[in-house]
Amino acid sequence: MARHLITSALPYINGIKHLGNLVGSQLPADAYARYLRARGNEVMFICATDEHGTPAELAAAKTGEPVADYCARMHGEQSALAAGFGLSFDHYGRSSSDRNRVLTQHFAGQLADNGYIREVSEKQVYSIDDGRFLPDRYIEGTCPNCGYDKARGDQCENCTKQLDPTDLINPRSAISGSTNLEVRETKHLYLRQSTLKGDIAEWIDGKKDWPILTTSIARKWLNDGDGLQDRGITRDLHWGVPVKRGDQDWPGMEGKVFYVWFDAPIEYIAATAEWADSEGKSDADWRRWWRLDEGAEDVTYTQFMGKDNVPFHTLSFPATIIGSGEPWKLVDYIKSFNYLTYDGGQFSTSQGRGVFMDQALEILPADYWRWWLLSHAPESGDSEFTWENFQQSVNKDLADVLGNFVSRITKFCRSKFGEEIPAGGSYGDEEQQLLDALTTRIRAYEGFMQAMEVRKSASELRAIWVLGNEYLQSAAPWSTFKTDPEKAAMQVRLGLNLIRLYAVLSSPFIPFTSDAMLQAMGTDNADWPDDVTAALEALPAGHAFTVPEVLFAKITDDQRAEWEERFKGVRG
Ligand code: MF3
Ligand code: ZN
Repeated sequence: MARHLITSALPYINGIKHLGNLVGSQLPADAYARYLRARGNEVMFICATDEHGTPAELAAAKTGEPVADYCARMHGEQSALAAGFGLSFDHYGRSSSDRNRVLTQHFAGQLADNGYIREVSEKQVYSIDDGRFLPDRYIEGTCPNCGYDKARGDQCENCTKQLDPTDLINPRSAISGSTNLEVRETKHLYLRQSTLKGDIAEWIDGKKDWPILTTSIARKWLNDGDGLQDRGITRDLHWGVPVKRGDQDWPGMEGKVFYVWFDAPIEYIAATAEWADSEGKSDADWRRWWRLDEGAEDVTYTQFMGKDNVPFHTLSFPATIIGSGEPWKLVDYIKSFNYLTYDGGQFSTSQGRGVFMDQALEILPADYWRWWLLSHAPESGDSEFTWENFQQSVNKDLADVLGNFVSRITKFCRSKFGEEIPAGGSYGDEEQQLLDALTTRIRAYEGFMQAMEVRKSASELRAIWVLGNEYLQSAAPWSTFKTDPEKAAMQVRLGLNLIRLYAVLSSPFIPFTSDAMLQAMGTDNADWPDDVTAALEALPAGHAFTVPEVLFAKITDDQRAEWEERFKGVRG
C-alpha cells in the first residue's frame, strides 16, 4: 500500500467553471484518485477555491456583496457542483482560510530570512476616484500602435502589442471609467527566483518521466532570455493575505497583500491542514503528507493542471518551497492538459458560449459528462467538444455497449431464472477465452491508469465492456436455454458477475453508475480483480439481484439540436 498526495489546480472563485476547466485538472485528478483508492492505496486528494486577487474583488463589486461574502457564497456553489460531478476530494478548501494566511506569511518570512526577498520601489497608476492602485490590466485607453480605444494596460487585444500602462493614450480606470489617475511610487517585495535558477533547472532535469507537455513548457520558461526573472509577490490591494514576515509586521508593507499566485499554491498545503481541522485530526496528521522530516518520505505527490498553469507549478511554487530552506515535499509528477474547445471556438463566459458545470448537470447526469470528457481528454493536443460527438459517445459507448449489456443480462435472468444468480453448468472454451481476454485487457487498463494515460484508459475500459457484449452475443443464453438450461445458467451467472466486475473497473470514470450497478447486484464487494477468475465468482449461485433502471438514456437528435442552439452563445 502506497501513499498518494494528489492536487488539482485550484479553480478561481469568480464564476462557475466550464467543462474545459473541469477536464483540464479536477476531473482527471478525480479519476486517478478513485483508481488509486480502489487499488488499496492511501490517498489524500486536495482541491480548493482560489479566492484572492482583483478579479474576485471586481466580481464581488458587481454583485454588490462584500468580497468575503461573495467568496463564501461562491465557494458553496462550487463545492456543490464538485459534489454533483462526483469529485471525491478529501478536502475542498479555501485559499482565504486562516491556515493559508499563516502558512503564506510563514513562507514569506522564511524566504526573507534566507535572503530570497528584495524590496523594489515602483511607479504605479493610482486611481484617485477608486481609491486604489490599478493593476495594469484594469487601466484602459487608446492603443498607441493601432488606435484601438479599449486597449488594456498590459496588452492591446486588437493588435496584440505588449504595453505599459503609461503607453496608453487617454488612460482611464477600467473599474469606474475615471480619468482621474496619477502615477505614485509604491514599494513591493520581489522573490529572487533568478538566484534559484540552478536548483530548479537541476530538479526539472531529474524528471525524466514527466510528460513532454510539462517539461517543454518548464524548459522554455527556464531557458528563454527572460525566464525565471525575479517576481513581484505583493500587491496594493485590500483583498488577500496581508503582507507579514512570519507573524511580524513588515515595515513599509502595511496595507499590502501577497500576490494571488504567491498564496494560491501554498493553499495545497493549507487545505490539507484545513482537512485535519475539519476531521478533528492533529497537525501531525496533515504534516505527514507534506513534511519530509515528519513522515512524507514515502508520499508520491502528483499535480493535475491545464498547460497555462505549468510555469507556476514548475518554477514559481518550487522556488517558494526550495527557498524556504525547509523540508516541504516537492511535486513528484505533473500531469498537464491542453485545452478543450467548444464547437470550433473557445468557451466564453461573457458570451455564454459553451456548457458550464451547473448547466451540464441540469440537462444530464454527471456520468454522461464524465465519460465524454475523460475519454476525450485533451492530452496530446487540444480536443473539441461537439454535440454530435457527445451524442455518439453517449449513445454508443454508454447506452449501446455498457447499458445494453446490463439490461439484457439482468432482464433475461429475471425472466428465466428469477432475480437471483442461477446455479449449474461449468465453463467451457468460450468462457476460458473470455477470461484470458479480460485478464489481458484489465492488466493493460491498470497500466494506463497508473500512467495517467486518460484517453487510453478510457478506450481500454470500453474494450473491456465490448468483450462482455461479444460474449453475450455469441454465447446467446436465450438460444442455449432451449436445449441446455444448465449451460445457459452458467452463461448468465458469468454475465451477472461481469456486471459487478464492470462496476468496479468503471468507478474512476462513471462512479454514480458504478454504484447503481453494485446496488442492483445486491453487493458492496468492490474488490479489485487481481484475479479475474476469482472476481467472476464473487456473486455465488442463489445471490439476489434486481434489474436496474435504464442506466443511460440515448440522446435524441431533437435534444442535440436544442442544446446546440441553447449553448452557442450570444454571438454564435
Ligand atoms: N486559479 C488558477 C487558474 O485557474 C490556478 C491556481 S493553481 C494554484 O488558472 F496552484 F496556484 F493554486
Ligand atoms: Zn493596438
